[in-house]
Amino acid sequence: MSNLLVAVDGASKGNPGAAGIGVVVYGESGKVVREISEHIGIATNNVAEYAALIRGLEEALKLGAESVRVQTDSELLARQIAGTYKVRAAHLSSYHERAKSLLAQFRKAEISHVPRGQNAHADRLASKAANGETHAKNKKNKKPNAGGGQKMKVVAFNGSARRDGNTAILINRVFNELEKEGIATEMYQFPGRTIRGCRACFRCIENKDGHCAFWDDVANECINKMAEADGIILASPTYFADISTELKALIDRAGMVSLANGYMLKRKVGAAVIAVRRGGAIHAFDSINHFFFINQMIVPGSSYWNMGIGREIGKVENDEEGLRTMSNLGQNMAWLLKRLKE
Ligand SMILES: Cc1cc2nc3c(=O)[nH]c(=O)nc-3n(C[C@H](O)[C@H](O)[C@H](O)COP(=O)(O)O)c2cc1C
Repeated sequence: MSNLLVAVDGASKGNPGAAGIGVVVYGESGKVVREISEHIGIATNNVAEYAALIRGLEEALKLGAESVRVQTDSELLARQIAGTYKVRAAHLSSYHERAKSLLAQFRKAEISHVPRGQNAHADRLASKAANGETHAKNKKNKKPNAGGGQKMKVVAFNGSARRDGNTAILINRVFNELEKEGIATEMYQFPGRTIRGCRACFRCIENKDGHCAFWDDVANECINKMAEADGIILASPTYFADISTELKALIDRAGMVSLANGYMLKRKVGAAVIAVRRGGAIHAFDSINHFFFINQMIVPGSSYWNMGIGREIGKVENDEEGLRTMSNLGQNMAWLLKRLKE
């Protein structure tokens, strides 16, 4: 897939208001190879346009594109990227920088402004996402939601430095129960990805666009996933009696953005999951719960505190009580999500 066309659009209901992005990636034959429709929380139109561009470029890179043609119906976006308009709004400058740095990764990249009618597909995906409708082609639903309508989703962030280690095994136990109840799941793992701590610039409080002002790592990708989900699992191995650095960075970045945007995670369901060799799990568990409680989230319990014991990868499978605790947590989380949805 060396040469891709990426149609992007952002929509905001209120400017600023509930916002979404739409991206359609076309292969060389003109066939659609990817459609993205994502809710991005509260944002202005221009922020949504930039977020769509950034997401589209990231996807094109993931697909291995060497050159990319971007089309947008936002004249401002096209002209600011081309350099014919200056970026005057301070809150757009970090988006602009991120988009330019992504564009620089292609051998050839161009952006063109097209009339809205020519961008109808991306426009439709963005509007749906702004309205909170998820895009079915991106979901791997197994069973319809008992309450009917839109399927619920739980996203888990696994803070471990080891992909698919003990923390992942514990998360999957929780997922098994959620999936039995028709709730979609996604695990986000950090190895190979970069997330930094909060830089205390407080631009998220000025911008109030549902995002961190810095786009040079995966924080906003994670924040978008949190904003879209009904339930959030924050999971970590115990590192020196606390959570991992990556998970702490996510907590600080997402926590500040949530508070800056009127508690955007309010009343979502949250659960902590901890892997531990021997000691410190309760402290790590508490660190995560502080995040849920200050965000006005709702936290289900289990039959023990949510931890599983083991050191080498796979050893948590021997901790029967730990596994049971995860299954019970999954059942309670599903029960709570359904009650809240009713
Ligand atoms: C940097 C580091 C610090 C750790 N600190 C602790 C600790 O304080 N207490 C403990 O019981 N285990 C500790 N461990 C062990 C891990 O918590 C344990 O192996 C866990 O199962 C790893 O989960 P994972 O497979 O998902 O990475 C530490 C491991 C590492 C790499």
